[in-house]
Amino acid sequence: MTAGVPVIAIDGPTGSGKGTVSRGLARRLSWHLLDSGALYRLVALAARHRGVSLDDVAGLVSVAETMAVQFSAAGDDEQIMLEGQDVTLALRTEDAGMDASRVGAIPEVRAALLERQRGFARAPGLIADGRDMGSVVFPQSALKVFLTAAPQERALRRYKQLSEKGIDVSLAALSREIVERDRRDASRRVAPLRPAADARVLDSTGLTVEQVIETVLRWVDDAGLTT
Ligand code: DC
Repeated sequence: MTAGVPVIAIDGPTGSGKGTVSRGLARRLSWHLLDSGALYRLVALAARHRGVSLDDVAGLVSVAETMAVQFSAAGDDEQIMLEGQDVTLALRTEDAGMDASRVGAIPEVRAALLERQRGFARAPGLIADGRDMGSVVFPQSALKVFLTAAPQERALRRYKQLSEKGIDVSLAALSREIVERDRRDASRRVAPLRPAADARVLDSTGLTVEQVIETVLRWVDDAGLTT
């Protein structure tokens, strides 16, 4: 990564609000954003497009190393392109999330994505959203936040988010999937989902997005990251 670029790591489980909070922070600070979950989703989706099985480790590594992806943002609207195709919506489905969780459990895939993720660090700074940003990818982060929330609230947030995007899901199925995804992400051998030793844990149950962002911005100030 670019030496000396400050990084704020925002880690946490599915539905903890880290995507929304990370986007909000990036906007408030005018920093760059890495949505690392999207990279895992993209590996799985690109593998499906290329007919590579999600059990084929060498095939997945090759996909992770060679897939052409492009992130762009205009206000609240993000667009993600995979080999010239707009996959923004396809990436957000629960199936894509489950697939990402599967490929994310493979150490070789994680290794293949490491440098790609570090390449997102550019001046004036990076907000890195994921599961292992503070623990593995950017251990030197100036601030590490582990965002969490009660499972029922996380399921409800995902439900609302997906419904707003016109993606049809049932709340009960979402709750089951969230529990299953948490279990897989927390129990994998490499980079399991857990707070870094020096992370500040923030439970956002009952808090609004704005309240969470304000809390993190206070921590950003405490860490001396604002000019
Ligand atoms: O944050 P998300 O829901 O887009 O992530 C989808 C899956 O990708 C998640 O269940 C596990 C995997 N993932 C990961 O293993 N490491 C990351 N840094 C980000 C996501």
